[in-house]
Amino acid sequence: MANAEIRTVVRTVKLTKAFGTNVAVDSLDLEIRTGEILGFLGPNGAGKTTAISMILGLLQPTSGHVELFGKKVDWVQSDARQRIGTLLDGVELYPYLSAKENLEVFRKAFGGIPECRVSEVLEIVGLIPRLNDKVSGFSQGMKQRLGLALGLLPDPDILILDEPANGLDPEGIKDLRDLLKGLARQGKGIFLSSHLLSEVELICDRVVILRKGKVVARGTVEELITDTAKIELAVNHPTEAEEIILAKPEVLSVTRTGNKLSVQYDPSATDITGISGSSNDLDTCRKLAQELNRDLASHGLFVYELTPLRGNLEEVFFDVLEEVK
Ligand SMILES: Nc1ncnc2c1ncn2[C@@H]1O[C@H](COP(=O)(O)OP(=O)(O)OP(=O)(O)O)[C@@H](O)[C@H]1O
Ligand SMILES: [Mg+2]
Repeated sequence: MANAEIRTVVRTVKLTKAFGTNVAVDSLDLEIRTGEILGFLGPNGAGKTTAISMILGLLQPTSGHVELFGKKVDWVQSDARQRIGTLLDGVELYPYLSAKENLEVFRKAFGGIPECRVSEVLEIVGLIPRLNDKVSGFSQGMKQRLGLALGLLPDPDILILDEPANGLDPEGIKDLRDLLKGLARQGKGIFLSSHLLSEVELICDRVVILRKGKVVARGTVEELITDTAKIELAVNHPTEAEEIILAKPEVLSVTRTGNKLSVQYDPSATDITGISGSSNDLDTCRKLAQELNRDLASHGLFVYELTPLRGNLEEVFFDVLEEVK
């Protein structure tokens, strides 16, 4: 973000929702800030939509509360919610009106939004070439864009999106990615739930992973994925190689399949590689790979395949869900 400072716009404090005995969201604390994209992950039924609905004032919390712009808000009534944009499933677009006319209807319904804002949001979402076309002829991706344009009408500080990539093709997903990144660069805060882990890894600055209503992991993408980096290698004498590798202090475990070894290591134990694990996990991984190669060669072993593998969010996701089972 160029000039503006990062501010926390939304804070949830011990936010909880129970449906009968089913605690869908359990004491959730999170912060949504301007200028960054926060990913909200979790398997089906984890409580993402329930949490988002409470933040948006669509569902009453059982306990805990939501703060907007530093103030605790009544669950249903708050003018501050006007400053939060959303793209919810099933937003009601008028099929026989054009993109522009749809926006006009919503602009008037919101009240207090200048007319020029309609072309501004059409420009932001890239719908200017289709502004006079009827929505009934729009593809899913175009409807999503128009939905986002609606959410952007009041020029909100924060956008909250529940599965925004739903129903989009790869090109639509890429467009959405560029759009969201651009909005974050302009200083908007974006909170999005998604099942597309590789996509989340590409666009999010931080992520929160939810399971059965509880946070099971949170952090920057870099912090979280560093722990799943590994080195794969193939060597002529795997048993001997395994022993040599396991003797290294930063190595946590080695898995052997035939002549192939997969090496898990502790990225923070970088006394030998000499660089911090969180600065760039792939650099650390490559350094260690070189070192393993040198060590094995000095013992007369021959490494014929060597692959440093960057960590990824999918592994983090399955690891944390597995751990808390
Ligand atoms: N209106 C409701 N009445 C009763 N139970 C509900 C209601 N809405 C959600 N639940 C329950 O709350 C839990 C969390 O559901 P929620 O829809 O928030 O999950 P989610 O993380 O959004 O899942 P998905 O990834 O499938 O969208 C589930 O056990 C669900 O059955
Ligand atoms: Mg959901």
